[in-house]
Amino acid sequence: MAFETTETVDCDILIIGGGMSGCGAAFEAKFWAGDRRVVLAEKAVIERSGATGEGLSAINCYMGQRYGWNTPEDFVNYVVNDMMGLAREDLVYDVGRHVDNSVHLLEEWGLPIWKQENGQYERIGRWQIPIHGESIKPIAAEPARTALGPENIYERVAITHLLTDDDDPGKIAGALGFSVRDNRFYVFRSPVVIITTGGASNVFRPRSVSEGLGRTWYSVFATGSAYGLMIPAGVEMTQMEHRFVPTRFKDGYGPVGMWFQYFHAKVLNALGDDYTVTRADELGKYEPYGSAIPTPTPLRNHQMFLDIRDGYGPMYMRTDQAMQALSGGDPAKMEQVRNEAWEDFLDMTISQALTWAAQNIAPEETPSEVVLAEPYIMGSHSGEAGAWVSGPEDVTGSGAAPDYFWGYNRMTTIRGLFAAGDGVGAAPHKFSSGSFTEGRIAAKAAVNYLADNPGRPAVTGEQVQGLQQTILAPLATYDRHKGATTAEEINPHYLTPKQGLVRLQKIMDEYGAGASAWYTTNGPTLERGIQLIEMLREDLAHLAARSPHELMRCWELVHRAWVGEAHLRHLLYRQETRWPGYYYRSDYPNLDDANWRVFVNSRYDRAADSWELMTRPYRNLIT
Ligand code: FAD
Ligand code: ADX
Repeated sequence: MAFETTETVDCDILIIGGGMSGCGAAFEAKFWAGDRRVVLAEKAVIERSGATGEGLSAINCYMGQRYGWNTPEDFVNYVVNDMMGLAREDLVYDVGRHVDNSVHLLEEWGLPIWKQENGQYERIGRWQIPIHGESIKPIAAEPARTALGPENIYERVAITHLLTDDDDPGKIAGALGFSVRDNRFYVFRSPVVIITTGGASNVFRPRSVSEGLGRTWYSVFATGSAYGLMIPAGVEMTQMEHRFVPTRFKDGYGPVGMWFQYFHAKVLNALGDDYTVTRADELGKYEPYGSAIPTPTPLRNHQMFLDIRDGYGPMYMRTDQAMQALSGGDPAKMEQVRNEAWEDFLDMTISQALTWAAQNIAPEETPSEVVLAEPYIMGSHSGEAGAWVSGPEDVTGSGAAPDYFWGYNRMTTIRGLFAAGDGVGAAPHKFSSGSFTEGRIAAKAAVNYLADNPGRPAVTGEQVQGLQQTILAPLATYDRHKGATTAEEINPHYLTPKQGLVRLQKIMDEYGAGASAWYTTNGPTLERGIQLIEMLREDLAHLAARSPHELMRCWELVHRAWVGEAHLRHLLYRQETRWPGYYYRSDYPNLDDANWRVFVNSRYDRAADSWELMTRPYRNLIT
C-alpha cells in the first residue's frame, strides 16, 4: 500500500494553499518572520495553481488612490451595497487601503497593465483595470517562491485535516496531508497556520454535464478546502448561506464584466428588450439597495432571471452591436477591438474562445448567449462565505466593535489559525489583488501572534495516528473489497469519489436552490436536503481510492460536502430572501432588513456532532 513513509515537518508558520492569497502570505510572512521557518503546502504547483492559474484579464480590485479615483471609504460603500447591506466594513476597508500597493508590486514584478495615453492605468469600470494577464499567477508566485526558498515549499501535497493542540483544542497545532506524487504522508507541526485554500466550485450540479463536467466558471480545483478544513475543526463561520451565481457566456463560462463595462455591450432578450430597462421598477422592491449604483450583482441577476423565467430567452450579449459601435466603421479600430475581445478570453477563460471557434462565432458579427450559472460558494468575488475573523486593530480594536476583534487581524476563532482570500467571510470583492493583499495582512498579523506566543504546539502521536488512519482509509477500503466485483466502480462495499460528488451535487441542486430548481427553495425542502446530506456524510466513510490521486479526490469531496451541509443549514436559518438573483426562499420571499440585516454564523461541534447557528451584528464603522 502507498504511504509507507511519514515525514514530520516542524515550522513556525504553515501556509496552506499557494494561490493568490497564499503567495501574498508567503511573500509578506518571510519579510517579517526573520529566521523563523515559514512553510507552504500546496496540492498543485504554485506557478499555475488556483483560480488564477489560467490567467486573468483584469485586476478587479484597485482603488487608484494616487490618481484620486476612489478612497477605501468609497469601496466600503460599494461593497456593502453590492452585498445588499451585509459586509464587514472593517475587513473591506482594510483591503481597500492596502490593495493599490499590492497592484503596484505586481506591476513591478512584471504584470503588464494597460495604460492610457496620459500614462495612467486604463480603466474598465470604477474598480477594475485591464491587464495582459495570462501570466499573473507565475508573476505572483515568483516572489513567494524566492522568499520562502524551494526547501520550504511542499507541492503536490494535499492537506486534508487541521491539527489542534492536545492540551487546548482552541489552539492550532498544524495540519496533515499527503503527496499525490511521492508516496509520502506529511505531518506539519506549527503554532501558526494560515488557510488560503480558495473557494468552492462543483458543490452544486453544474450546467455542464457528462463530457463537459470538467468545465465550470470557478476553478474545478477550488474544492472548498478552506471551509472543509475549518468547519470540522470548530471554526466559527459566517455567511455560509451566501453564494455567487455568475452571469456567464453560455457553455464556455466566459466572464461578462469586461463586456458590460469596457465594451459597453448590452444583454437583450429574444425580443430585443433590455431587462435593465423593462425591469427597472423591480429594483424599487429592494430599497435602499435597489437604487445603488451600480445595481447590486444579485439584483442584476434577478432582473435577467425574471426575463428567463417568463420565457423571453435566450438572452444574448450583443457583442456585435457593441463592437460595431466602438469601431465606428473604421477597419483599423475594429481590428483592435477584435483583438481585445479575443484576448479577454484567451487571457482568462480559454474555453470561451474555444466555444466561439467551435460555434463559428465572430463576436463582431454574432451575439453570444449568456445564462445564469450554477451557484459557487466563495469569499473573494461577489460572494461572502467564509471564516469569521478578527478585524484590524486600529478600526475594531478600540472597542467600537467588540465582537469583531480578538487580538490579531484575520485570526479565526481558533487561536493561531488565520485565513485569507476566499476563506475569509463577509469581506467580498477582493478578487485577485485583494486576496493577495489579504494574504499579506494575515501573514503580518500571524508573525505578531508568533512573537507573542512563542511556544511549540503539543501534538501527540495519538491524534496524528487516528487521523492518519482515517485519511488513508479509502485506499484500504479499495484494497480490501476490490475483488468483490469485476467492474471496479460497481461494488457493494464502497463508493468512488466521482459517485459521491454526483450525489452531493444532486442534493444541492434539487434541495439547495440550484439552477434546475430555479434557484428556489423553502424550509421543508431544506430540511429534507439536510437529512439527505447527513446520510451522505455517513456514507463518505465508505469512499474508496485506487491511487493517491483518487485519495485526494476523496478528501476534496469530503471538503465539498462540509461546504454543502453548512450552506443548507445557513439557508434554512436565514428567514428572508436577501439576495434575489442568487436564491429565493419561497416561504420568505421578501428582504427583511428589520430582522435580518445581521450576519448568520455557525459553529460545528465535533464531539457532539452538532451545529450551532447564531447571528452577529452588522456594524456601520466606516461609511
Ligand atoms: P486561489 O487563488 O484559488 O488559491 C487557492 C490555492 O489553494 C490553490 O493554489 C489551490 O491549489 C490550493 N489548495 C486548495 N485546496 C488545497 C488543499 N486541500 N491542500 C493544499 N492546497 C490546496 N480576479 C480578478 O481580480 N480579475 C479577474 O479578471 C478575475 N477573473 C477570474 C476569472 C476566472 C475564470 C476565475 C476562476 C477567477 C477570476 N478572478 C478574477 C478571481 C480570482 O481568481 C480569485 O478571487 C482569487 O484567485 C482568490 O484567491 P485565493 O487565494 O482565495 O484562492
Ligand atoms: S470575473 O472575475 O470572472 O472576471 P466578472 O466578469 O463577472 O468576473 O466581473 C468582473 C468585474 O466586473 C467584477 O468587479 C464585477 O463586480 C464587475 N461587473 C460585472 N458586471 C457588471 C455590471 N453589469 N455592472 C457593474 N459591474 C459589473
